[in-house]
Amino acid sequence: MQKINNKLPDNTTMFETIIKKINNAEKLSVKDLEHLLSLEDERAQKLLFEKAYLKKKQSTGNKVFLRGLIELSNICTEDCYYCGIRKSNKKYRRYFLSRKEVVDCINFAYRNNYASVVIQAGERKDKKFVDYVTDILHETRKLTKGNLRITLSLGEQTEETYRKWYEAGARRYLLRIETSNPKLYAEIHPESSSFEDRKNCLKILKKTGYQLGTGVLIGFPGQTVADLAKDIKFYKDIDVDMIGMGPYIPHRDTPMGKDLYSTFDDKARKKSLLMGLKMIAATKIYLPDINIAATTALEALSPKGLEQGVLAGANVIMININDHKYKKSYILYDNKPCFESDILSFQSDLNKRIKKIGSELAFGVFGDAVHYTKKQRQYGVK
Ligand code: 5AD
Repeated sequence: MQKINNKLPDNTTMFETIIKKINNAEKLSVKDLEHLLSLEDERAQKLLFEKAYLKKKQSTGNKVFLRGLIELSNICTEDCYYCGIRKSNKKYRRYFLSRKEVVDCINFAYRNNYASVVIQAGERKDKKFVDYVTDILHETRKLTKGNLRITLSLGEQTEETYRKWYEAGARRYLLRIETSNPKLYAEIHPESSSFEDRKNCLKILKKTGYQLGTGVLIGFPGQTVADLAKDIKFYKDIDVDMIGMGPYIPHRDTPMGKDLYSTFDDKARKKSLLMGLKMIAATKIYLPDINIAATTALEALSPKGLEQGVLAGANVIMININDHKYKKSYILYDNKPCFESDILSFQSDLNKRIKKIGSELAFGVFGDAVHYTKKQRQYGVK
């Protein structure tokens, strides 16, 4: 491997010490993480990404796990200040995929050897919704004989619901904490939304047996680098298996984004993207055996956002597999990519892009987080 020069201008001693710790697989402190996230020197950033990429290769391998993403519905009972599909935004036509539409997506994923699907929707807790999801899970298990890993991303639910969905076959759950700072959490959510409730849901999910996923919004107003460093520590403390996080992108029809979106120029986009990449890298170095997604928000900020995410240590990519006509109604932030082409050609283009950077999409493997499988083995579970 090419020898990298560690003598860097920006706060050389601290950076050198951190690099040494990374090389020796020593534990980093929150201050170390904060330093990594603050790196401004381009060579230092490059070295950070290289170290994270190496950690990824050593722990989860060189391949990128593929997930089919089904955006089940944009109906949401929540009113988060940053999110485009919040219930108060009357500008979108609300949709709900029919059972046949969902089953078609599942069949598509299964036939094309995806091995894993994520079902995501705005938050709803009513019985009709809970039963609908349960039915889809049963049907999926029947159709695929259990050979498709299902991740749910359906917000805060009761313990009973989480258990019901687990028993019906779901094995992973993604619930973003958005920020681990309770004060900031209260600033970006309405009063009805509680940080403690969200955290408690994460604990229940873990206890229920799910592979646990969470993540944060990166770079929203008021958030500091110290907050982000603590977010990474939070990931460790709740014992996550998977991370899906991405830069905050203002949406014009939200309370938080309405004044920000016009000032979100190229410079701001670049800065946001960079912080997103640094977060991926620092998280991968801190928690090498978890899965980290290169999320769509990265792609919204740069045409090569997904590749950059992978090169910074991400090992999961989700491809939206529901009917194109719904994609324009699932706009969480402005300029969310909707990938005009059909799914298979998008998938093949994506594979070419990923191959160009020396990696490839993995088909036909569940792609469970090493962190999770290691623990299962430890407890003697097959
Ligand atoms: N910018 C970036 N990500 C956003 N999300 C919601 N709104 C935005 C935004 N404006 C993310 C949140 C949520 C996920 C579904 O989408 O983190 O958990």
